[in-house]
Amino acid sequence: MESIFGATLFLILLTASTAQDGCSCQTNKLTNCNQVSTCECTAIGSNQPVDCSRLTSKCLLMKAEMFRKTGRAFHKPEGAFLDNDGLYNPDCDDNGNFKARQCNQTDTCWCVNSAGVRRTDKGDKSMKCTELVRTNWIFINLKHKERETPFSKLELVNSLRQLIQNRYTLHQSYITAIEYDPPVIHIDLKQNATKKDVGDVDIADVAYYFEKDIKGESFHRGIFNLSVSEEPLDVEEILIYYVDEKLPEFSMKRLTPGIIAVVVVVILAIIIGITVLVITRRRNSGKYKKVEIKEMGEMRSGQNS
Ligand SMILES: *[C@@H]1O[C@H](CO)[C@@H](O)[C@H](O)[C@H]1NC(C)=O
Ligand SMILES: *[C@@H]1O[C@H](CO)[C@@H](O)[C@H](O)[C@H]1NC(C)=O
Repeated sequence: MESIFGATLFLILLTASTAQDGCSCQTNKLTNCNQVSTCECTAIGSNQPVDCSRLTSKCLLMKAEMFRKTGRAFHKPEGAFLDNDGLYNPDCDDNGNFKARQCNQTDTCWCVNSAGVRRTDKGDKSMKCTELVRTNWIFINLKHKERETPFSKLELVNSLRQLIQNRYTLHQSYITAIEYDPPVIHIDLKQNATKKDVGDVDIADVAYYFEKDIKGESFHRGIFNLSVSEEPLDVEEILIYYVDEKLPEFSMKRLTPGIIAVVVVVILAIIIGITVLVITRRRNSGKYKKVEIKEMGEMRSGQNS
């Protein structure tokens, strides 16, 4: 009786353990697998089902590689921009907020949002910035180091939520999304001016602390420990996009490649149009000259006869 019970228990444990770590794709690491009735895997980047008893097609492999590289799971929203300037010496008001116009103590000035990130082209001292535009959405993409198996989605989301609430004291209502599509993690922090209570930490401050913690340059003296179920979560890339209440005012240089291509085509078309016009004009005037010469010749022959 005891031995039967023992054997059953052993069998249960065995199935449980194989179900947990046995479900992975032998021929393709770039997959997400789920134990349904059998182990079912899909390629990352495309979500197409993969037969793990054979090689995956090169097309799906390349798609998965690209996806890991760029983390395209989470598309940045319209008008979102990165901080391409980095550190400068800002002018702050009496409350410690950014002034709308920043010059880095030089003669070059620009306008910033409430996160202190440039949202216009640079100009000279005459540059005017009428208001400090609020950053009400911070869109963060993280990529963690390669792992044999991805983290548990639920535990990862909980760990990050806890961290942001506890370490940075951000109220959970401002953490509007944490999503995980291995190896990319996406975090949305949203905070409108009307919703923000006096004394609430600003999402821009939270994002700056978080960025520095991730980069190993913490301001906080408390030890930064980012882990999921006791396993360290090693972030190898962090991209922070800023979305302001108003669209940023960058000029041509910042246009997306698609738009630049269209502009180039239009300009080329105009140049070609002008060239064709000039050539035909030349040809036509050339003809006139020939006709004139011919006519003069005829006149001469007429005179001779
Ligand atoms: C601000 O000035 C410092 C020192 O002159 C310089 O290193 C830095 O690149 C400047 N930053 C910007 C955003 O212009
Ligand atoms: C926050 O403000 C933006 C733009 O001003 C608006 O589109 C959005 O609906 C607001 N969100 C909330 C939760 O009030």
